[in-house]
Amino acid sequence: MTVTIVGAQLGDEGKGGVVDVFSDAADIIVRYQGGDNAGHTVVEDDEEYKLSLVPSGAIRGKIGVLGNGCVVNPRTLFTEIDKLQDRGLSPDVRVARRAHVILPYHRVIDGIEEDTKEDDDLAAGTTGRGIGPTYEDKAGRRGIRIGDLLDPEVLRARLEYVVPQKRELLSSVYGVDPDEIEDPENAFDIDALYEEYKSYGERLKEEGMTVNSGAFLTQAIEDGNKVMLEGAQGTSLDIDHGVYPYVTSSNPSAGAASVGTGLGVTTVGQGEVIGVIKAYLSRVGTGPLPTELGDIDEQTAGSGTTAEDEIASYIRDRGGEYGTVTGRPRRVGWIDMPMLRHATRTNGFTGIAVNHIDVLAGLETVKVGHSYTLDGEEQLTMPTTTEEWGQCEPNYREFDGWDDVDWKQVSEQGYEALPENAQEYLDYISSELSVPVYAVGVGAERDETIIRKHPF
Ligand code: GDP
Ligand code: IMO
Ligand code: MG
Repeated sequence: MTVTIVGAQLGDEGKGGVVDVFSDAADIIVRYQGGDNAGHTVVEDDEEYKLSLVPSGAIRGKIGVLGNGCVVNPRTLFTEIDKLQDRGLSPDVRVARRAHVILPYHRVIDGIEEDTKEDDDLAAGTTGRGIGPTYEDKAGRRGIRIGDLLDPEVLRARLEYVVPQKRELLSSVYGVDPDEIEDPENAFDIDALYEEYKSYGERLKEEGMTVNSGAFLTQAIEDGNKVMLEGAQGTSLDIDHGVYPYVTSSNPSAGAASVGTGLGVTTVGQGEVIGVIKAYLSRVGTGPLPTELGDIDEQTAGSGTTAEDEIASYIRDRGGEYGTVTGRPRRVGWIDMPMLRHATRTNGFTGIAVNHIDVLAGLETVKVGHSYTLDGEEQLTMPTTTEEWGQCEPNYREFDGWDDVDWKQVSEQGYEALPENAQEYLDYISSELSVPVYAVGVGAERDETIIRKHPF
């Protein structure tokens, strides 16, 4: 059986924590899309793990698989595995031979293209990990796959085809000399790339890390193993269903759990699909955000003085909404129900996990964007273009707030121990989406999640 965990909003909903809580009963955890643009947090006994590539189940010693739908940076992968080993874990990670490889030139091009787009307000505020350029090469049929790293002759041939094109792109389109790029080093040097990536292939081979992911997982399920499919990013960052072009370049939504692993849609469809929802919105990238609270620039400058700015700063501080790499404050907003209705339809959620209920504690009033008004009409779901989304005026509903309580105690006692107003808030979300609440997050630690129904 499978359980698929999907972000319902704009990423960072707390998927890593939900995967951790439910993966006690799983045998294998699989990432099906994205790469090291993800940052999934697991907190166990005060130890915090931030995982960008290794599936979150590694913390519990489960087998982790990077499915064929992922884009894998071997540099990051091995650094992350080595660091986890230094912390006393022994992550067992398998990588699909059909997964595509992120090369140093992808990261360089990601940065240059973002800079270029900035003038036209088209920059997505990417993580700079080379995700978009790698998926472009995959679709352009000029990508290098994990399987190619295992065969030096094929690797060489692929590099010889693609690197001259990348050099030309840099010099002729962007006016940048590829030999002047210092970080990362040798990004456009065929010989250096060949030596380095061949050696990753050797390590993958020596450690028996590569798999035919569809065959491996299907067999595992036939043998009675339980498989968890861990989505990265969120539905509104989906390249098809998100707020294009301010999206990532893969499909975080549940359909990709089949395509990105090689498991049949019927297999994934017979399982559970859990939508992970943050009790408010946070956004690291650019683009419209109808339910945004105040103005991020003013809040950052410390000049934000409106009531909304104050609420945003309150939520941001309590929720630790600062970029993990840059420390940059994230944009914050009220929950957006049209976004969640869209996500529920797109993914077919069988259950939801609502996180960060503790973060909102102490506010007098908690608002939700119940619907939008667009061109004088009420809309219950997201419009198809991002321009229209930007024109949507949210219609808010207000809920009485709840106080801070001993959240650890609440999670021990269960759902009924939650403050009544928080329960009302959760019941509203659940009934609007017609999906039951499986879990409620009231803190970052493993034992700060209330489990109402275990999907396995
Ligand atoms: P992911 O990308 O969806 O896995 O989420 P991230 O790990 O990037 O961001 C979620 C952050 O919130 C992490 O620091 C988590 O430890 C933390 N977190 C998760 N659930 C909760 C919760 O219910 N309450 C609080 N206060 N923090 C949470
Ligand atoms: P997790 O898995 C939040 C955003 C970036 C940018 C856009 C495209 O931790 O929830 P990319 O580097 O993917 O080309 O960037 O997507 N983004 C995320 N935002 N959480 C993430 O991952 C994200 N991964 C990408 O900020 O707007
Ligand atoms: Mg994250």
